[in-house]
Amino acid sequence: MTDARTGVLAGLKVVVSAGPTFEDIDPVRFIGNRSSGKMGFAVAAAAAERGADVQLVAGPVALPTPPGVQRIDVRSAAQMHEAVLAALPCDIYIGAAAVADYTPREVAPGKLKKQVGQDTLTLELVRTPDILAEVAAHAARPRLVVGFAAETDRVEHYARGKLAAKRVDLIAANRVGVPGSGFESDDNALTIYWDGGERALGPAPKGELARDLLDVVGRRLTGGAPGHG
Ligand code: CTP
Repeated sequence: MTDARTGVLAGLKVVVSAGPTFEDIDPVRFIGNRSSGKMGFAVAAAAAERGADVQLVAGPVALPTPPGVQRIDVRSAAQMHEAVLAALPCDIYIGAAAVADYTPREVAPGKLKKQVGQDTLTLELVRTPDILAEVAAHAARPRLVVGFAAETDRVEHYARGKLAAKRVDLIAANRVGVPGSGFESDDNALTIYWDGGERALGPAPKGELARDLLDVVGRRLTGGAPGHG
C-alpha cells in the first residue's frame, strides 16, 4: 500500500471535476443528467489522503466535501469550463464530471408557458466547450490528463476513440445502464485505457476504485508501466 504522505502524489496540485452539469432552459427548468458525483468525489478524497493539494470543481450534487479538499461549486458546463481553466496550472487533471455536451441557445427570462394547440416544442441547443480536450491542448497542460467515459455499449471502442481524439493520457471507462455499476451506484467497475495498454479495476466500492485509479496515475507519472490487466 502507498504511504499517504510519501507517495508520488504528495505535494502535487490535482484538479478534479465531478458531478453533472445543469443547463438552464428557464428559471424553473433545466437539462441535467444522472451523474451522482460519487466517483469524482472519491477520487478527490483519495488524492487528498495521499497528500495532494486538491481542487474539486463540483457540479450540482449534495455530497459532503472530502476532508482537506478545496471545493468550487458550479452549475453549468460554461461555469465548470471557467472554473477548471482558472485552476490551471496543475500537475494532474482528472475530468470525472458528466459535462453536458449541449446547452440551450438562450435561457428564457421567464417561465416558458405551453401554448394552446402546440403539441411539440423544439429547443435549440448549442455545443458546450470540451473542457477535457481544452485542458489537454492547453499551453499549461498538466503532466497527466485523465478523462472518464461512460458508455452503454462498445466501451473499449468509444473509450479509445476519446483517448485519441481528446489527446489525454488515460481514460477510465465504465459501462452505464447496467445494475450495480455506473452513475448512482456506490460500486463501480472501470477499465483504464492508455496508448498501448489497459487495466480492469473492480467491481469494487468507488473509494477503493479511486485509490486503484490513483495507483495507475502514480505509476504513469513516475514513468512506469501503469500495470497489467
Ligand atoms: N467532457 C468535458 N467537456 C465536455 C464533455 C465531456 O470535459 N463538454 C469530458 C468528461 O468530463 C469526461 C470525458 O470528456 O472526462 C468524456 O465525456 P463523455 O460525455 O462521455 O464523452 P463525449 O466526448 O461527450 O462523447 P459522447 O457524449 O459522444 O459519448
